Amino acid sequence: MTQRIRKRVRMLGVVLAGVMSMPMAMAAPQASGEMMGNTCGGCHGTQGHIKGEAFMPLAGMKEATFIKAMTDFRGGARPATLMGHVARGYNDEQIKAMAEYFAKVKP
Ligand code: HEC
Repeated sequence: MTQRIRKRVRMLGVVLAGVMSMPMAMAAPQASGEMMGNTCGGCHGTQGHIKGEAFMPLAGMKEATFIKAMTDFRGGARPATLMGHVARGYNDEQIKAMAEYFAKVKP
């Protein structure tokens, strides 16, 4: 009984560790803006396209707007439910690369 619970807890730990390390692994220095941008698709839609109002689309967002939003999320200047955690996984260079990518995608 306790053995099974312990096994469960350990498995949960492994899953959580995987999820937590994901943004770091995907934000390797050589990752392109497009590669990094693809990790946003789960919430913001493929290539930043999305139907519906719940999540804002990223496609076609101005570079400066994107960079400001991400750095504000990262620093906590802009309140966020999720994006604070997301933004903290990226450095300035990586944010710039994604900004260039999303600015080029047709809205
Ligand atoms: C787990 C879901 C989720 C993921 C993954 C995610 N976002 Fe977001 N994003 C949100 C939510 C929710 C908001 C609204 C602000 C908030 O509450 O965090 C948002 C807001 C934003 C905004 C502001 C949009 C605007 O119109 O002002 C930008 C920019 C943004 N996200 C970029 C990204 C980028 C870039 C990635 C990938 C690196 C990403 N997001 C991944 C959920 C997500």
